Amino acid sequence: KRKRDEPTDEPPSRDDKPVTQEAPHKSKSPTNEKPESIPEQPGNEDNVVGKAHPGKPPSNSKHNSKPKSLDNKTNFTSLREKANTLYEQRKKLPIFGHSDEIRKKLRDQDVMLLVGETGSGKSTQIPQFLVNEFWCRPTDTKITQKDGKEKSIKVGGCIAITQPRRVAAISLARRVAEEMGTPLGSSSPASKVGYSVRFDTSTSPSTRVKFLTEGMLLQEMLHDPWLTKYSAVVVDEVHERGVNVDLVTGFLRNLVSCDNQGRGGVPLKVVVMSATADMESLQGFFQEGFKLQAEEQKRIENGSAKGEKENGVTKDISVCHIKGRQFSVKTIYSPEPVHDFVDAALKIIFQIHYKEPMPGDILVFLTGQETVEALEHLVNEYAIDMDPALPKVQVLPLFAALPQAAQQRVFMPAPPRTRKIVLSTNIAETSVTVSGVRYVVDCGKAKIKQFRSRLGLDSLLVKPISKSAAIQRKGRAGREAPGQCFRLYTEKDYLTLDETNTPEILRCDLSQALLNMKARGVDDIVRFPFLTRPPRESLEKALLQLLNIEALEETGSISEIGRHIAKLPLTPTLGRVLLAAAENGADCLTDVIDIISCLSVENIFMNANSEEKKEAAETARRDLYRREGDHLTMLATVRAYAAEHADRKAWAERHLVSHRAMQSVMDVRKQLRTQCRQAKLLPGDQRNDHFPDPSPVLILQSFLRGFATNTARLVPDGSYRTVVGNQTVAIHPSSVLFGKKVEAIMYNEFVFTNRSYARGVSAVQMDWVGEALAG
Ligand code: CDP
Repeated sequence: KRKRDEPTDEPPSRDDKPVTQEAPHKSKSPTNEKPESIPEQPGNEDNVVGKAHPGKPPSNSKHNSKPKSLDNKTNFTSLREKANTLYEQRKKLPIFGHSDEIRKKLRDQDVMLLVGETGSGKSTQIPQFLVNEFWCRPTDTKITQKDGKEKSIKVGGCIAITQPRRVAAISLARRVAEEMGTPLGSSSPASKVGYSVRFDTSTSPSTRVKFLTEGMLLQEMLHDPWLTKYSAVVVDEVHERGVNVDLVTGFLRNLVSCDNQGRGGVPLKVVVMSATADMESLQGFFQEGFKLQAEEQKRIENGSAKGEKENGVTKDISVCHIKGRQFSVKTIYSPEPVHDFVDAALKIIFQIHYKEPMPGDILVFLTGQETVEALEHLVNEYAIDMDPALPKVQVLPLFAALPQAAQQRVFMPAPPRTRKIVLSTNIAETSVTVSGVRYVVDCGKAKIKQFRSRLGLDSLLVKPISKSAAIQRKGRAGREAPGQCFRLYTEKDYLTLDETNTPEILRCDLSQALLNMKARGVDDIVRFPFLTRPPRESLEKALLQLLNIEALEETGSISEIGRHIAKLPLTPTLGRVLLAAAENGADCLTDVIDIISCLSVENIFMNANSEEKKEAAETARRDLYRREGDHLTMLATVRAYAAEHADRKAWAERHLVSHRAMQSVMDVRKQLRTQCRQAKLLPGDQRNDHFPDPSPVLILQSFLRGFATNTARLVPDGSYRTVVGNQTVAIHPSSVLFGKKVEAIMYNEFVFTNRSYARGVSAVQMDWVGEALAG
């Protein structure tokens, strides 16, 4: 039994700030101001929206015979009304009173750092504070081209806000569009707020605020290295420290500490935001850039640059602290170590639901799609027999691979007399704010990517989270009122956790990062300004990997293949596979796109935990299984699903295939096909879904061009040994080849639980492996 009623003393930690409840802004706060971005006069909007809207009919046009302009007018009025209502909420956000201070700072400086508790309003308000500033307007200017001739260009006008996760980018864009009273993204040419994430971009010609993933900003830099579209880039959630944010900050430091030649002298403003307090290293990082620039200028001019810019903007970098509004949260530890956290979470959920009189939703932190779906299933099963006098429960999963519509449901309030139970991966830790939560259940673990140098590849490992992450998770329960946090680990275990997350750049495969840099002309990787310098060994491994897939020339410079791969929204290995498939013809490429689409969602098959379920699953999926292995099985599944026109959901249920995952697969597939058509890798004409029989040899050989080092051969004792590194590896039980003996296997992923497993496995021939390794 948990000691639920005893007050627990949270071990003191520097990061866990005292609980304070700030009075809403007093004195001369900008609350009296008009909302900065409440929509302009209706006349203006109507004019724009009244114009022809290419390609897209209004969504309700089929059932509505009212004139178009009238529809649009009504629409804008309701958008404005909604924005006015939301303005009341915005005024209460902790950041709101800092609007003047932030605007003033950014008029005087180009770089600002901002720290504020999750939910204080950073991501939604900062772009709105800045978008109407004078420096945020597009400026006509001139640049000198390589041939010495001058060219007139327009610079700026738009604000980019980067996010580590696509879910956050989309949901923030939606929210900010509502707050600004403007339609979202490509839904209207007058829309001022848009987003861009891998496989999904929604912007309009009028976009002024754009939420995008770090990866997409890096992609944009490929085409526009000076980021000429933007007046400001806001880097959000920098504390997450994924590899991409480290690259973004490096490139931005170079951009703000240069002469802005490619921007016709128009400076770029940069705001870096974090939910945790350590901003010193970032401050030092940007200052170092300015110092180097001043030294360089001094050297050239032999004068005194002294860190002053010509336009009078100083090179100070200030840190702005937003005090959060956090209510007290009681921590309840598990009295003893928990072995099955899914089971433990299930018990706690119903314990809360039955016994806690305090209303409020429950947010459960789990490790990944699999544990989320397993618990979702269990909670729904238990809820059937629940006391009918109790409020209902609504179980909502939240993980990166979830289709858009399902993700958005998490942000809607629960229906009356219903308790929302959100089952999330660490997405909900700082990236997204789920309102209504007063109970947090934290399993204490997260799935993280880790480079395993002996194997030379990344594996997904379930690892204990850091103290800082545990504190963030707990904080989610105290956003709106006092709450409770149930930690499914002991207090002693909590004390042994690392203080903060290790930056991904220190523990991951860097081949994508490296290719990114090479494609942007950074040839001297060693001189690149890294926020944290990656170990030399991982840089060397990444270089080798890129050489293996022919993305680099022997000299280390980027190859034509590498340039092609860098433009694809895929890892370098999968990008290489796609190009190899294109060489094998359009049919092979279309099939490989289907398989890659499956690989980009976590798992298309429903979990079969028990023996009984396993048997049922095997019977149901028999017609989909292919003896060649998982890749051809995925292809058969996509083809069968795509060919099902009557009821795809029922089809998926019959085959124990996740309908949800398949919807994501279809999204990705569509995007990849479009991109391949644009890159002229696929013919332009639309193809239907009746394809010739696939050619397994060509498909698998294409995969080997990217995954030649992810191979293992059968040895006489019946086990598999990796071709590179000679390590023992077993076929994962989820694979259709589990228990089978074939000459050699190729796999996409290496998972380490209690032993080393290969996942996403197909049978290959050793001579194909030899050929692929030889290049
Ligand atoms: O960036 P930070 O975590 O500081 O806060 P935010 O994301 O700007 O969120 C501020 C508030 O906006 C939240 O507390 C929610 O009330 C609301 N919000 C929302 O309703 N829907 C979203 N997708 C994002 C924010």
